[in-house]
Amino acid sequence: MTVAPPKIVSEAEKLRHEIDEHNYRYHVLDDPIISDSEYDVLFQKLKKLEAEYPTLITPDSPTQRVGSKPLKEFKEVKHEIPMLSLENGFSEEEVVAFDERVHQRLHTTDPIEYVCEPKLDGLAISIVYEKGKLAFAATRGDGEVGEDVTENIRTILMIPLHLRGKEFPKVFEVRGEVYISKSGFEKLNREAEKKGEKIFVNPRNAAAGSIRQLDPRITATRPLSLFCYGVGVIEGIKIPDKHSEILALIKQFGFPVNPEIKVSTGIKACLKYYEHMAEKRKKLTYEIDGIVYKVNDIDLQKKLGFVSRAPRWALAHKFPAEEVSTVIEDVEFQVGRTGAITPVARLKPVFVGGATVSNATLHNMDEIQRKDIHIGDTVLVRRAGDVIPEVVAVIKSKRPRSAKKIHLPKVCPVCHSHIETIEGEAVARCTGGLFCRAQRKEAIKHFASRRMMNIEGLGDKLVDQLVDTKLVDHVSDVYKLTLDQLSSLERMAEKSAQNLLDELEKSKKTTLARFLHALGIRDVGEATAKELARHFGDLPDLMSANEEELQSVPDIGPIVAKHIVAFFAEKHNRDIIQQLIKSGIHWEKVARAKQLPLQGKTFVLTGTLKSFSREEAKEKLENLGAKVSGSVSAKTHYVVVGEDAGSKLKKAQELGIKILDEEEFKKFLHH
Ligand code: IVH
Repeated sequence: MTVAPPKIVSEAEKLRHEIDEHNYRYHVLDDPIISDSEYDVLFQKLKKLEAEYPTLITPDSPTQRVGSKPLKEFKEVKHEIPMLSLENGFSEEEVVAFDERVHQRLHTTDPIEYVCEPKLDGLAISIVYEKGKLAFAATRGDGEVGEDVTENIRTILMIPLHLRGKEFPKVFEVRGEVYISKSGFEKLNREAEKKGEKIFVNPRNAAAGSIRQLDPRITATRPLSLFCYGVGVIEGIKIPDKHSEILALIKQFGFPVNPEIKVSTGIKACLKYYEHMAEKRKKLTYEIDGIVYKVNDIDLQKKLGFVSRAPRWALAHKFPAEEVSTVIEDVEFQVGRTGAITPVARLKPVFVGGATVSNATLHNMDEIQRKDIHIGDTVLVRRAGDVIPEVVAVIKSKRPRSAKKIHLPKVCPVCHSHIETIEGEAVARCTGGLFCRAQRKEAIKHFASRRMMNIEGLGDKLVDQLVDTKLVDHVSDVYKLTLDQLSSLERMAEKSAQNLLDELEKSKKTTLARFLHALGIRDVGEATAKELARHFGDLPDLMSANEEELQSVPDIGPIVAKHIVAFFAEKHNRDIIQQLIKSGIHWEKVARAKQLPLQGKTFVLTGTLKSFSREEAKEKLENLGAKVSGSVSAKTHYVVVGEDAGSKLKKAQELGIKILDEEEFKKFLHH
């Protein structure tokens, strides 16, 4: 092997040092001073030198983070100092009792100084540095013996391969929690879903699974992070007198320490910190499941000692669990205001996220299938903050033989109209939009609004009042309201009641397009309603049209056609339409589009017209049945040319398309 000349040796050394510094700034301090591409240049330079002179490669070179081969198994590692667990407290009383015990054992009444630390929900890890260099890393295991995960730990860029600084203890064991941030977890699962791989249940599982992974190359792709919270074996330097000073030392050696950690005197201050963090929790980029209080003075810690594998000097004050397991006893289907059918799991009641929960949303049938949820399953339920409780995952090993598949009902549980499912759409919907009690308030508000039936005075609040007092059941009932009924309502003077009746009367004279829009057929907005009115001319033809015929209307695709057919197929809807017409709603018949003079002709407008705006010209043409397009092609029939026309005119000339100047265009419209 060629030995590198001294100049190259020092160049490699300099590069290693530089790369380490940038890693530290980026991953630990979150304060990079060079761009990713500049970092890559340095990294590639070092790699090239090492490839040329392999003797340059040291185990702590930043290029040596990923071992080449997957392991067959993890070796066992005995922890020289056991990795303990923590006693848990769930209430203020338990925290106060802990503080009292500490006082009694220490025979003092002085307030105790505690270090308050967020309790991360990940995987406990021990990393041992010998003479400043990373020697090995292990999981907690049973506290006595863990698994050797050195190769995996080396892939985490925020973990230094050697301690920072110039003087190192002979042995330095740092302990902490490996975790995955909330966003890292979401990204990981998004990618897993894309590749059809297994989805992780929560960030904790994802972190644990990533560390206990035999192929370090896979671990290297996982967004793992670390916060250190303590030390194990230390040889060669004096251990500081306070836990807070130990944390400072850990930080000084280049490890990430949670910036939220705070020293508080007296248990009251600790409880205040707990409240503060409970509030801040949702804003943190990682999940925490409680606060750890630790007596700060190391001498006092020693005096307090341990009991059954947990120190007497610390307590984990847990937040109410956000995830617990329970059983799905049944599944019911709810109908939303817009007709969306949502499956809801009826759960064996559980206390989760600070409240008793007996229902959880299952979102839709796709979700049920994806998570493979059955009635009778034991499931993980999550409730965080004000979020609606949801089923995170099924614990398959607990599925009873009697578990039942979940089927979407054929008819709406509220109004018995048909349920429509459209391929490619996750949400199933009730088709009884006008009739369904679950949807009626929305249906009436929509019906009355300005661009639809334009019933001034029939606002959201009044609709709520009319439905709640049972004066109105369906939209058709609004035309049956009497002066007496309206005046009997709270906050409704006789004059306003009469005004509303007048408005109702006025609204009866409408257009077919407005009426269609008002019916609230899914995906039929103003423009589609206009197209439908123009194409069919009157309602009966539209109501009896099939999907094929509907699709021949401009801008109506297969999905909208399905919605329209499903809507009119529903007898309940047809009954209400009939009642509306019976109450006097009417419109002038529109000439069927087929009879329009410019039906089937495509126009392109270009340049500036003097007598009308582009929009006005477009509307005029459309009213005559023409289609107005933005670009000239072989399919264009006429190009209307204003002043300063450019490339479109040229193209039209090339294609031999009929060209109209403004005067000709005006004449054309006239005829
Ligand atoms: S101290 C002797 N501090 O919680 C004290 N642990 O339930 C041992 N954990 O195994 C642990 N954040 O995985 C400590 N700031 C923190 C922690 C923390 C999370 C985990 C750790 C430990 C478990 C004990």
